[in-house]
Amino acid sequence: MHNRLMRLFKHILILLIPVITISVSAREVENFNKGWKFALNIDDRQDITADDYDDSGWRTLDLPHDWAIEGDFDEHNPSGTGGGALPGGIGWYRKTFKADKKDRGQVFTIEFDGVYMNSSVYINGHLLGTRPYGYISFSYDLTPYINWDGENVIAVKVDNSDQPNSRWYSGCGIYRDVRLVKLNPVHIPQWGTFVISDINHDGTATVKVKYEMVNHNPPENAVIIKQTIFDADNKIVAKTQSSKVHVWNTAYTQERTDTLLINNPVLWNLERPYLYTVTTEILDYDSNKLLDSYSTIFGIRTIEFRADSGFYLNGEHVRINGVCNHHDLGCLGAATNERAIERQLQILKEMGCNGIRCSHNPPSPILLDLCDRMGFLVMDEAFDMWHRRKTERDYARFFEGWANRDLSDMIKRDRNHPSIVIWSIGNEVQEQWSDARADTLSDLLLETLSDRDEYIIDYKREEIDNVNTFITQNLVDIIKHYDPTRPITAGCNEPSPGNHLFRSGAIDVIGYNYHNQNVPAVPRLFPGKPFIITESVSALMTRGFYEMPSDQMMTRPARWDRPYYNPTFSCSAYDNVRTPWGSHHEENLLFLNKQPFVAGQYIWTGFDYIGEPTPYGWPARSSYFGIVDLAGFPKDIYYLYQSEWTDTPVLHLFPHWNWTPGEQIDMWCYYNNADEVELYINGVSQGVRSKDAEHLHVVWNVTFEPGTVKVVARKNGIETASQEIHTAGEPAQIRLTPDRSTIRSNGTDLSFVTVEILDKDGNLCPNADNLVKFSVDGKGFIAGVDNGSPISLERFKDNKRKAFYGKCLVVLQNNGSKGNIKLKALSEGLNDAQINIKCASKAK
Ligand code: GAL
Repeated sequence: MHNRLMRLFKHILILLIPVITISVSAREVENFNKGWKFALNIDDRQDITADDYDDSGWRTLDLPHDWAIEGDFDEHNPSGTGGGALPGGIGWYRKTFKADKKDRGQVFTIEFDGVYMNSSVYINGHLLGTRPYGYISFSYDLTPYINWDGENVIAVKVDNSDQPNSRWYSGCGIYRDVRLVKLNPVHIPQWGTFVISDINHDGTATVKVKYEMVNHNPPENAVIIKQTIFDADNKIVAKTQSSKVHVWNTAYTQERTDTLLINNPVLWNLERPYLYTVTTEILDYDSNKLLDSYSTIFGIRTIEFRADSGFYLNGEHVRINGVCNHHDLGCLGAATNERAIERQLQILKEMGCNGIRCSHNPPSPILLDLCDRMGFLVMDEAFDMWHRRKTERDYARFFEGWANRDLSDMIKRDRNHPSIVIWSIGNEVQEQWSDARADTLSDLLLETLSDRDEYIIDYKREEIDNVNTFITQNLVDIIKHYDPTRPITAGCNEPSPGNHLFRSGAIDVIGYNYHNQNVPAVPRLFPGKPFIITESVSALMTRGFYEMPSDQMMTRPARWDRPYYNPTFSCSAYDNVRTPWGSHHEENLLFLNKQPFVAGQYIWTGFDYIGEPTPYGWPARSSYFGIVDLAGFPKDIYYLYQSEWTDTPVLHLFPHWNWTPGEQIDMWCYYNNADEVELYINGVSQGVRSKDAEHLHVVWNVTFEPGTVKVVARKNGIETASQEIHTAGEPAQIRLTPDRSTIRSNGTDLSFVTVEILDKDGNLCPNADNLVKFSVDGKGFIAGVDNGSPISLERFKDNKRKAFYGKCLVVLQNNGSKGNIKLKALSEGLNDAQINIKCASKAK
């Protein structure tokens, strides 16, 4: 028996020797976004995953892709208006690739940043796995199924037919990036590094690089590991080299930690978000050949939440002035685009916003990279529901089977981002409360929860008498296991300490959604616990629409469970409409200014998003909550924050000056850097106003007469700024203003062009709704059109759009070539406009 085994072992070794000797090249990462075949809702009686399936009739497209955004709004779409009233269905994607025979022995993996939802991935007809959660990133090992002699077919089924499964627009499809990764059998697995840095008393920084290694080569490989830290200028600031290390071929990954020291580290902060990169290299001990090279970007900074005084970054107090956002990018839908996210963040940063809450799910990794580079304080959130659902077919049905895995993957993926300062295990989960039917452990849940060895908790602890506290503890344990460096919160709309999540004792930072009235009691109810407003405001506004009197505060709907109707399907853009659970922006700011123990807030929301059109139903199909509308045009309230949160000079007078003569109009103004502001109508003063401790805006009630309204700001009696609005005449011309007139020729870069309807003198026509038609020539195409209206049922993928309160947007995308994109805009009865966008190696 023994001899037979030995012979078999030798035989295996002989078979594997050539594999070992040719498998020496290091990691290669290929962007796998281009050239997929796609079909929607097709007959699947034939095996679509088979390599010989004929997909020649399918559409060819590049990822990221969201098929729902290409569709038409329909009240009867199963997502409902809450989900954006766009179509769902089952989509299939196929892509072929050739494996090179010389790569036999390498490991091939495919990485998906996100597929909404219920994806099943196949290679050459073999099912690699399914992932129900539409926001999680995942990968598969392709190696055992690769056809080395010919074509390989990756087929992905995306099933978003089972709806409603979301309270907001989710998008449908492979809506984030995909990569094909070629690895040496000895390598660092996906997300296999964790960099922790400590700042020492002498000002140096100790950087611990924890990493995992796997080895598909039996029985072992002798290697050495080099760690090299590069600063932002790519200069080496620290390095180490290990002695001989054996990487065994086992089912388990092997973990090691190397420690490095950086002298005079530059700290990551909001003004200068300084980033380092550590490259972990595995080299073959005998030949010194590079087997793997894995780069991890990190920042050096300290974070602390204090119960009495809030949040500290590098020991300095910082108020978190953040916003919540969903992931959609307006007319581009859920399809991730770096420039579109960057533009959102730039607009928010200019407002003075310094934080993003990824509500309510793991975000695109690109968002986190940008937050690292641009300096934002991120709350990374795992779930909107646990095992009790919010919409009929949502993730709750997968929670028991998948939550531990999804959460672990999210933490491993995201824990090196310096921008993330806090994790959230959930938003307003129903488990905050008791429910006799739900508060029992199902067999599956019990098994999932206790099927962990090294960090299992004793769920019979006496003080944990409810399954919901137990689930809380379990999720917190998972996070702490993968990242002991950051605190954990949850967005709670049950403020009492009886909330099961709080009762678990596992939540580090108490988080409230809304409930300002309960905030002052927090230090008494949760002694010693830091506190943050995970979600605030939920005021409602339509850009360009004004309802007077402006100081008449409206609550819509009157109660959360009551429907609301108003034929305008609009909400006033004075800060005078809110939800019953929310507050007005200004009221909320004034309140929080008086609560120094609060670490900060994440306002609902920075940008409007598709879906959840509270307080309306169909035909409303996108939100009214945004400080910025869906097209990216700031609403008036944007300037309140900019005036309070930045030193940028602000003087913002609104509304427009096109009313009926004799009408009483409330003119509001947000300003800063001045002691007083004075309003003039056709040169006649309407009085001087100043903000005070209880008001962050000023108002004049005036009688409209056509002409010019002007506001002048003064400091110490000297005029510092002024703004004029003229009564606009009839629409006569179009103005096109690109956010950037030179973009990159990389095939994905975008120019966001604002389209305005002007009168003959160049004044914006504030009520214009002219239909504008676009034609594009040259090195690009129209990626989407929008106007920010929450009730427009026009398509987002089109070459025309109606203006909404004088404005609309066309998004141009480069097609991969250098040259010009020529955009022409035409509208009946108006002078046309034309601009050129240059596509070059660098953007301007
Ligand atoms: C909150 C919820 C958000 C959004 C918001 C609208 O309660 O957490 O997801 O629905 O209300 O006001």
